[in-house]
Amino acid sequence: MPAAARPLLLSDRPMPDCVRDYPMMRYMGSKFRLLPWLHEVLGELEFASALDAFSGSGCVGFLLKAMNKRVTSADFLAFPIEIATATVANPGVRVSEEEAERLMEYDPKHRHFIEHTFTGIFYTPTELRFLDRVSWNIRKLTDPIKRSIATAALIRSCAKRQPRGVFTVAGDPARYKDGRRDLRLSLREHFREHLAKYNETAFDNGHKNRAVRSDVFDLDPTGIDLVYLDPPYVPRSDDNCYIKRYHFLEGLACYWHGVEIMESTRVKKIAKPYTPFSYRRTAHDAFDRMFQRFADSVTVLSYSSNGYPDLDEIVRLLSRYHSSVSVVGRPHRYHFGTHRSASRNEVTEYLIVGKR
Ligand SMILES: C[S@@+](CC[C@H](N)C(=O)[O-])C[C@H]1O[C@@H](n2cnc3c(N)ncnc32)[C@H](O)[C@@H]1O
Repeated sequence: MPAAARPLLLSDRPMPDCVRDYPMMRYMGSKFRLLPWLHEVLGELEFASALDAFSGSGCVGFLLKAMNKRVTSADFLAFPIEIATATVANPGVRVSEEEAERLMEYDPKHRHFIEHTFTGIFYTPTELRFLDRVSWNIRKLTDPIKRSIATAALIRSCAKRQPRGVFTVAGDPARYKDGRRDLRLSLREHFREHLAKYNETAFDNGHKNRAVRSDVFDLDPTGIDLVYLDPPYVPRSDDNCYIKRYHFLEGLACYWHGVEIMESTRVKKIAKPYTPFSYRRTAHDAFDRMFQRFADSVTVLSYSSNGYPDLDEIVRLLSRYHSSVSVVGRPHRYHFGTHRSASRNEVTEYLIVGKR
């Protein structure tokens, strides 16, 4: 821990139960298992409004909502925003049983884009037709929150039904005959289950919470008491590309409208958006610009001991815009990747707090 760092004093307020039950999916860099710790650290800070600027799985925004804050969740990808709309922005809306049945009904007019594009790559033809059918029926829902609940349920179904939850290699999940329930269930069974799960998370915390698709550098920092920042880390060896892993979920979130499929790729990837946090030559400047952008807000950054720039440099950069910078750290292991890479995933996870 650098000299500039001072430990925060932590209390042991319990985390709200609904946060433990958040419908998680495997998401690279997810802080779900760190939420009790994050809750303790955030509980020591005074703020009424918060921005989760790299929403990902949406769990941190949901924690903030459960702490009765006015929350904005943001991410530059579309599928995290569908999830955050269903969970964070949702003021208590649920999809009824009758609507759920209608979502799965056959409509002869539905498109066959997913079946035509992904047959022989992911899932069975029957399941792909199911995705086409539900995607078509989702558009008939007039309430945008309900559309996001159904889309989030479809996204989580696809993620859970896919071996390791990633779309990097083609193949039928049935060949992974390891008895795991998530791979055994059909997409239809998953969908029913996850619709119910998202319905359960719906609640109103009395504030108008939002989910917005945006690059972090396009977000308006005014009126945000606290910003939580969890950008991707510059990869040491492997890559940290979200689109490479989740392109199917990203396409599904918008039925591949307006996205370009890279036809030469076996798994029909889509082009990845540029982020300066992924490259050594641009990461340093990106952190500096980001800290400057949110200089008027209490800043809470998730960082890891294997990140670049290193912790001392991050603390130095944050200190340019905040008079008090504190660091807390704890060991963490990311459950992602293969056994071979597991030791690389054992890191110290830091929360760095900057205050004016
Ligand atoms: C480490 S993950 C966040 C994980 C999240 N806190 C959770 O617990 O699930 C980083 C996220 O940043 C998003 N992202 C990367 N570059 C971005 C940028 N320039 N602007 C906005 N979001 C970005 C990615 O899409 C990804 O969802």
